[in-house]
Amino acid sequence: MLIYSNGSWVKAEQAVVPFNDQGFLYGDSLFETIRVNHGHAFRLDRHMDRMRSGMDTIHMKGGDLLAEIPEILETYISKNQLDSALTRIIITRGISKGSPWRSESAPALYMTSRPINEPEQWPVKVVFLEEKNYPILRFHPAIKSGNYLGNMIAKKDAEDAGAFEPVFVNRDGYITECAIRNVFFIKNDILLTPSLELGVLPGVIRDTIMELAKKRHLKVRETLIIKGDVQEMDEAFISSTGVGVLPITWEGFQSNYKHSQILREDLYKLFESGESDVT
Ligand SMILES: Cc1ncc(COP(=O)(O)O)c(C=O)c1O
Repeated sequence: MLIYSNGSWVKAEQAVVPFNDQGFLYGDSLFETIRVNHGHAFRLDRHMDRMRSGMDTIHMKGGDLLAEIPEILETYISKNQLDSALTRIIITRGISKGSPWRSESAPALYMTSRPINEPEQWPVKVVFLEEKNYPILRFHPAIKSGNYLGNMIAKKDAEDAGAFEPVFVNRDGYITECAIRNVFFIKNDILLTPSLELGVLPGVIRDTIMELAKKRHLKVRETLIIKGDVQEMDEAFISSTGVGVLPITWEGFQSNYKHSQILREDLYKLFESGESDVT
């Protein structure tokens, strides 16, 4: 497999990141995980918008580099003869020069990928974890930065507890999102998901699901969901580029996942179609 390493195409086993790259030194970077179905990058424009917004938030220059990504990604897909995969695009503040907090280098771009590896069985188990116990970045607008330490520790803790994914509860008792996924609930035919104001990542699949749900005439609400209310929900699922829609369960929760299954099928049809838009 070939990696794109800031201007060069390198064999994966030989690819290295410069020691003084700001991304390596300080997590001074942003990333996107983009789904490729049948050689087509799903909703690339949305991923680019999210990255652009992240760059604005952290005052990272590099609009020109961002504009080059679609073409480099197309070359990446063709050089690696990718059919279906999760591609990862990383943009860092580049080689550290002078004071790291004022580093003025050109940003650096890296591209890699891995196979799509979805759980075969669902519902998968989740555990509710308190955000205050993890070094989690939470502000609005959320950015997909290279600082995923808290997310990774929580993911491991969840796995150690026999769960697939953690669902975070913030200091006010509200559900936010998972370590690497968004979360949805369904109650009385209304699709509910935590509001972006909580500092939740605006997931590309989160948006897609809300569009698909509206097409199915479900009411959709981005709202505040208190942890104490989850046991009364009719259905629940998590969402991401990697897993699409994945129904979840936890201690004492049972569901027929009626709407979740339909949304999951709708999403997979969209992936299979090689299109990005809900029509
Ligand atoms: C914290 C977090 N929330 C949600 C998501 C889902 O985002 P998307 O639907 O764009 O994959 C991710 C994906 O990486 C994530 O890291």
